[in-house]
Amino acid sequence: MKLRCARSGWAVKVLTALGAIALGGCAYTSNLTNPHPSQEPVADTPERGRVLYLRDCAWCHAAEGSGTGRGPDLISDTNGAAFTDFMLSTGRMPINDPSEPTRFSSPSYNPSEIEDLVAYVASLGGDGPPIPVVDTQAGDLALGLELYQENCAACHSTTGVGGALAAGPDPFDRSLIAPALTQSTPVQIAEAMQVGPGTMPVFGRDTFSDTEVDSIVRYLGHLQRPDDRGGLPLGHVGPVTEGAIGWLVGVGGALLIVRLIGTRVGEE
Ligand code: HEC
Ligand code: HEC
Repeated sequence: MKLRCARSGWAVKVLTALGAIALGGCAYTSNLTNPHPSQEPVADTPERGRVLYLRDCAWCHAAEGSGTGRGPDLISDTNGAAFTDFMLSTGRMPINDPSEPTRFSSPSYNPSEIEDLVAYVASLGGDGPPIPVVDTQAGDLALGLELYQENCAACHSTTGVGGALAAGPDPFDRSLIAPALTQSTPVQIAEAMQVGPGTMPVFGRDTFSDTEVDSIVRYLGHLQRPDDRGGLPLGHVGPVTEGAIGWLVGVGGALLIVRLIGTRVGEE
């Protein structure tokens, strides 16, 4: 009995030590991956956009939005309200390191903080488009399909699951990948078309009318919630997974049946 207690005492100590190491490790890594900003929330005053901008963005984009060696300016080209809203609502900004790839993730700010930041960045002087108003119901699904296949599918794939833009030495290089559109909101889709983030071309007002934009958004909504008649979606990747399943299930099943009903030479 004594022995058992002594042993469990040791076990407790070892477990506590392991727990402490694990916790320390977690705290360390969570520190590293902590979404920026890690600072305290800012009070909701008319100044909040400016305060957040100066605290979280200015060190890369400069106080007047004129850009630094760490980040581009926020006033030229298509920069303005739509671009800022797109970058913040898709969680692309802020980043912790200028070389960090920008990608879709959960936003670092709540919607009202984003609104304040967008208003502040827009006030810096960029004359890019304002946040677009989308009316999905006004879109025509068939027209959306046509426009999507002609203008977007080459990069984002016919089913909107994204795809590689070019072969490069690093298969994980984000600049060579067109992302999946499966989680984009209607406004983010319209914003992306108008501002052309990263290597995506701009599809501005002179390219698509409001109805055409609404139609593309409506069609993408349809792709996001597909009506998978005729079977399993298999990730909507297309012939590659379908072929793989065909081989595995079809040929594998046939082999299994042959194995079950067949007899080996000399087995009779
Ligand atoms: C560590 C540096 C860094 C911080 C901090 C940062 N950004 Fe950026 N930002 C960048 C870089 C680098 C790019 C270009 C990314 C790309 O094109 O993939 C960029 C791009 C942008 C763009 C698109 C501009 C364009 O012309 O491509 C906007 C808008 C933007 N950032 C807004 C913000 C806002 C708002 C904040 C603060 C909440 C912020 N950024 C914080 C580095 C930073
Ligand atoms: C030449 C290739 C190309 C074409 C054509 C293209 N895109 Fe993109 N698109 C991209 C790339 C690359 C990105 C990622 C940009 C970034 O993160 O900096 C992107 C991003 C997006 C996003 C943001 C998704 C996210 O991860 O938040 C949306 C929405 C989008 N595109 C919609 C469209 C629509 C709609 C069309 C057609 C009208 C289209 N794109 C045409 C390359 C393309």
